[in-house]
Amino acid sequence: MNRSTKQAEKTLQEQAEQLLEEAIIYYRDRPIGAVAARDSEADALNYDQCFIRDFVPAAFVFLIQGKTDIVYNFLIETVALQKQERRIDCYQPPPGLMPASFKVESLEGEQYLIADFGDRAIGRVTPIDSCLWWIILLRAYVKATDDFSLAHRKEFQEALNFILDICLGPQFEMFPTLLVPDGACMIDRRMGISGYPLEIQSLFYAALRAARELLIPQKEGEMLIKTINNRLGSFVYHIRSYYWLDLKQLNAIHRYKSDQFGESVVNKFNIYPDSIPYWLTEWMPDRGGYLAGNLGPGRMDFRFFSLGNLMSIIVSLASEEQCQGIIDLIDQRWQDLVGRMPMKICFPAVDGVAWQIITGSDPKNTPWSYHNGGSWPIMLWMLVAAAQIVGRADLGEKALAIAQSRLAEDEWPEYYDGKNGRLIGKSARKYQTWTIAGVLLAQLLLENPKHLSLIGFEEDTEAVACAI
Ligand code: GLC
Repeated sequence: MNRSTKQAEKTLQEQAEQLLEEAIIYYRDRPIGAVAARDSEADALNYDQCFIRDFVPAAFVFLIQGKTDIVYNFLIETVALQKQERRIDCYQPPPGLMPASFKVESLEGEQYLIADFGDRAIGRVTPIDSCLWWIILLRAYVKATDDFSLAHRKEFQEALNFILDICLGPQFEMFPTLLVPDGACMIDRRMGISGYPLEIQSLFYAALRAARELLIPQKEGEMLIKTINNRLGSFVYHIRSYYWLDLKQLNAIHRYKSDQFGESVVNKFNIYPDSIPYWLTEWMPDRGGYLAGNLGPGRMDFRFFSLGNLMSIIVSLASEEQCQGIIDLIDQRWQDLVGRMPMKICFPAVDGVAWQIITGSDPKNTPWSYHNGGSWPIMLWMLVAAAQIVGRADLGEKALAIAQSRLAEDEWPEYYDGKNGRLIGKSARKYQTWTIAGVLLAQLLLENPKHLSLIGFEEDTEAVACAI
């Protein structure tokens, strides 16, 4: 790298750091989070709030930089919010949910936090990923500060219990995966991801592993750790065996017999070979593969979803071979998945009648825009981290260079449109905080891969192995 490129990078980093600083929200004189975006030209809607999922990459940056107080304050305030009573019409959802977002409001000189648990959100979506990200962040805080005392406080143990109760409690379920409604995560609009979407599963897995480290192993905590270990074993087996797609597996599905009955059938979920989309038979490389977007009765979502696949590498949900395979696929399908802006949220886009049916004719999610195949710079840190884990840091560097060449000039947009991500997103907010934090985090991880231990997990050795 020559001196002027280094200089340019420095100023970009400085700019990003300053923007992140300016996005911080103060509550009663203490920093407690960051707004989603600071775009003076667009209608704020709820982008002036602190979203839990959006704050996580910024929080990782703060932890790495040693600015732990803001993360501490965030965790304290969100624990308090979790207990707030909420209602949608007259219905009272179960306690334990974490809000999608919150904001500071003032009344008669006093400041208050107003939270949105989905009761105010567009489409009234349930932010299930919030409570999962929250546990992941709590563990990162504990690792960064080497201080378990916060997590061991009564209200934090209670918060963990609440969340685990909802996730692990009995349901009408036959699978170890977590059943959720559409729009329950980063993709918070109708996009045909209800059921068992990979994004939620990868976060669920990470949250369970994080919770296992954070629970006090006595009485209730000990019971929960046992439950977690039982669930993790069957969960990993389920994802690694049934979500995995590569050419070999595609061949198997292509020749599946259907409508089989009984315990020992091959086609357990009754996937019909004709449901393999036409694009996939060409797109699947000879080497490599990925985890499917969703799996349920009679249904496999063959779309590639980036967050779920990358997080599965980072938290060791995928096997070592599968991790390598996913990065191999990204490398070989670089133009489709990374193109001119890292990285597509999912591939391919749905269009035509499928778009009408799946999105409900959503004008924001038109083909190759927003959640429907748009490109999101926030994915950059995950790509850098995942590539680093499988020994392909070069891919992360390449992706970062692509992003750096445009983001500052484009004023840090939320997302990009178009098949190769060349257009700034139609309704993208500028100065989007997680775009900024994503770049900073990617840089920090490239500089020092050791920081990955705050976020990721090694292969698990404690779960009760699933014996079939
Ligand atoms: C959009 C995104 C969501 C994000 C929010 C705030 O709703 O879909 O993932 O949290 O904006 O940036």
